[in-house]
Amino acid sequence: MKTSQKIKQNVVNNLAKTTLYENVTELLRMQQIYEAGIKEVRTKLEILDAEFKVKHDHNPIHHIESRLKSPESILKKAISKDIPVTERSLEENIHDIAGIRVICNYVDDVYKVAQLLTNQDDIQLIEMKDYIQNPKESGYMSLHLVLEVPIFLSEGPKPIHVEVQLRTIAMDFWASLEHKLKYKTDNNVSDDVKKELQECAKSIAEIDLKMQNIHNRLNKERV
Ligand code: GTP
Ligand code: MG
Repeated sequence: MKTSQKIKQNVVNNLAKTTLYENVTELLRMQQIYEAGIKEVRTKLEILDAEFKVKHDHNPIHHIESRLKSPESILKKAISKDIPVTERSLEENIHDIAGIRVICNYVDDVYKVAQLLTNQDDIQLIEMKDYIQNPKESGYMSLHLVLEVPIFLSEGPKPIHVEVQLRTIAMDFWASLEHKLKYKTDNNVSDDVKKELQECAKSIAEIDLKMQNIHNRLNKERV
């Protein structure tokens, strides 16, 4: 290799290293910020649930799960979506770095919690997908929200996106099994199983409705 070519190659290699280093540093910083976002929204949900219990003698939330997307998954998604791996681009294009799943007791609870949360002054609703009103072809049902919440850092507030998935216990039961099947069988779920899952999703929607009606009747009788 000629000296000029060697120098050129050296520059390219070092640039790649610098970019990689910057990317890793950015990703680690982002982890801390998004972890704070999860904590903030989780606390808001816990407070709403406790207040609802005092006011209405009923906990709308059964339990809350949360997860931070790993740097590997963030990079994978960035590559598959063909977006640059910079803090700004990742923040703008990947809405589920911070993910919260709220498992509710009844369908009405899902909408009540979503309404109470999005009504808060420091929360902005960026996107809502209602897969309960309009289930996915697979049968998947959930209410998906993308929220913008401020994280209070030393240099001031920083708005970030947090994805919140709300669903009933029954919907969660279905989604967990379907996800496991998809994962285990490498996306090749047979047509028979797909059809059975779609039927299960319909039954679950009916059962959720019946449970909601019984719950409403019991509540009325107690008043
Ligand atoms: P992404 O780029 O993956 O976020 O696509 P999108 O914005 O179209 O997302 P979508 O609204 O489809 O929701 C994505 C998330 O919802 C997934 O990461 C899953 O957690 C969940 N989800 C969506 N569809 C299904 C489904 O058919 N089965 C299961 N089990 N989960 C689903
Ligand atoms: Mg999404």
